[in-house]
Amino acid sequence: MTGSRKYFESVAPQWEAMRQGFFSETVRETAFGAAGVIAGRLAADIGAGAGFVTEGLLSRGLRVIAVDRSKAMLEEMKRKVGEGGAIEYRIGEAESLPLEDRSVDYVFANMCLHHVDSPPAAIREMARILKPGGRLVITDLDRHEFDFLRTEHCDRWMGFDRPDVGRWFTETGLVDVQIDCVGENCCAASQCGCGAAAVSIFVASGRRT
Ligand SMILES: C[S@@+](CC[C@H](N)C(=O)[O-])C[C@H]1O[C@@H](n2cnc3c(N)ncnc32)[C@H](O)[C@@H]1O
Repeated sequence: MTGSRKYFESVAPQWEAMRQGFFSETVRETAFGAAGVIAGRLAADIGAGAGFVTEGLLSRGLRVIAVDRSKAMLEEMKRKVGEGGAIEYRIGEAESLPLEDRSVDYVFANMCLHHVDSPPAAIREMARILKPGGRLVITDLDRHEFDFLRTEHCDRWMGFDRPDVGRWFTETGLVDVQIDCVGENCCAASQCGCGAAAVSIFVASGRRT
């Protein structure tokens, strides 16, 4: 098991409390606004974790397929949200999603992209599963220099340059691509006492034709 996989298996029970220290509900509300979510439609939440985005979508009346490679994180969500009804859980990789082509109205991925091995491959997969007219919305970190996020939280990438993210979106054929500030920082203090990070968060969106 890689460091990142081990990390999320071990922090799953504490993730929601940790998440509250890192960023607020503003992040998912901004993502939902960028997608223009409509009750009754079907969304996929990629790297769904303990359910931060999924729970927001369910409360707005959407149906959700929650995908994550960590069994422990999805178990944590199941404990809170339960099974059946509007939620389905699937173990899977962002770069080879366990969903059919053109099968969902929205795809969300909050703070997942900086953990995947290949961000462009993950974005291609997220675009593949969108129905025509569907929207992909990714919320993640701008490029930063806080190395302890890599060593202590197993981040694979130290954030992203927005032009790269925009190019990965357009290369998949998505249109109306926009990247804006969420208007909030992701904040974390290092365990080693060697730093405190405050990293701006972007919201990137695009529509499938
Ligand atoms: C920082 S957490 C964010 C969880 C949730 N989206 C939230 O906002 O609280 C990242 C999540 O992405 C998952 N993840 C990381 N790499 C992944 C991959 N390649 N495929 C699927 N899930 C992945 C992790 O297991 C973890 O649950």
